[in-house]
Amino acid sequence: MAGSGTAHLRSDDQRALTVENLVVEFPVSGGTVHAVSDLSIDLLPRETLGILGESGCGKSSAGRALMQLPSPTSGNVRLGDVELTGLKPKAMREARAKMQMIMQDPVSALNPRRKVKDLVAEGLEIWGFSGEDRAKFIDDLLRSVGLDPDVVRDRRPHELSGGQCQRVCIARSLAMDPDVLICDEPVSSLDVSVQAQVLNLLEETRERYDLSMIFIAHDVAVVKNISDRVMVMYLGKTCEVIPSDGMENKALHPYTKLLLTSVPSASDAAAAPSGPVKAVELPSPLNPPSGCRFRTRCPLATEQCAAEEPQLREMRPGQFVACHNVEA
Ligand SMILES: Nc1ncnc2c1ncn2[C@@H]1O[C@H](COP(=O)(O)OP(=O)(O)OP(=O)(O)O)[C@@H](O)[C@H]1O
Ligand SMILES: [Mg+2]
Repeated sequence: MAGSGTAHLRSDDQRALTVENLVVEFPVSGGTVHAVSDLSIDLLPRETLGILGESGCGKSSAGRALMQLPSPTSGNVRLGDVELTGLKPKAMREARAKMQMIMQDPVSALNPRRKVKDLVAEGLEIWGFSGEDRAKFIDDLLRSVGLDPDVVRDRRPHELSGGQCQRVCIARSLAMDPDVLICDEPVSSLDVSVQAQVLNLLEETRERYDLSMIFIAHDVAVVKNISDRVMVMYLGKTCEVIPSDGMENKALHPYTKLLLTSVPSASDAAAAPSGPVKAVELPSPLNPPSGCRFRTRCPLATEQCAAEEPQLREMRPGQFVACHNVEA
């Protein structure tokens, strides 16, 4: 489907991030946009979770809600042991420093009037850094993201390339010594030649700084390569949670299979949905289909799918699928 449930949450008590029943809705004229509907996530230390889905399925809304920017309509977000929902502003700023977000468009994420050294230092007041210590700290961070401090520290964003701007954004996040990094389509606005460099940098950064990462994208190949586990979203709901290793052959949900058929290297035989996918317009998040939200495009849909929302079920170890009609 596109269904709900928490069966995929692991019992580990050492979680970097726990999200339960996240709902994000936007009141608009004519109704309510159901951007994220009952999403649950757990992230272990040093793990990367990919979130994959088509444009408009709620990936960025979910990422921003984790950051409490703005807070979700309902649901719980726990960073380590700290429940973020409902914290007072000062406590929220301190707790949130441990979770940083890298945006899709690095140029607009940076204040055009500020110099690189000030952009990287933006959050540092919390730690009370000043003087030479701070200058050295910033130079070290710039070096660690592959920028030469002597060249870039006094430049403003318009004097940098898109890839350099994204490196500055990564340095700025690292300045806060985060535990969790949320990357929202961090390479999709970059030149293809620079995408691989920034992806490699994120991977190296995750290892060097012991980060846990949520990596949001609509590009299956990118998400698969960088993630340990992948969560597939459709219209605000979860379809499947699957280990990335071999997912092109193991995917079970018809929507995951549909996404995989768009990857040239995926095995077509295993990946093709078992029937023609209905070519219908994407349903509106203002009025999502009843039951399984994917049913209007699903080759396997039955009456049960309209009546009953499928819950995530474990089909194979570590692989959870919300669909009434697939078997392992
Ligand atoms: N502030 C808002 N007010 C009203 N609707 C919104 C708002 N922000 C997002 N939406 C709607 O919520 C849905 C999910 O949007 P979101 O940006 O989270 O999708 P996405 O998966 O990140 O898409 P993309 O891949 O294009 O970035 C969309 O239908 C979008 O139009
Ligand atoms: Mg988005």
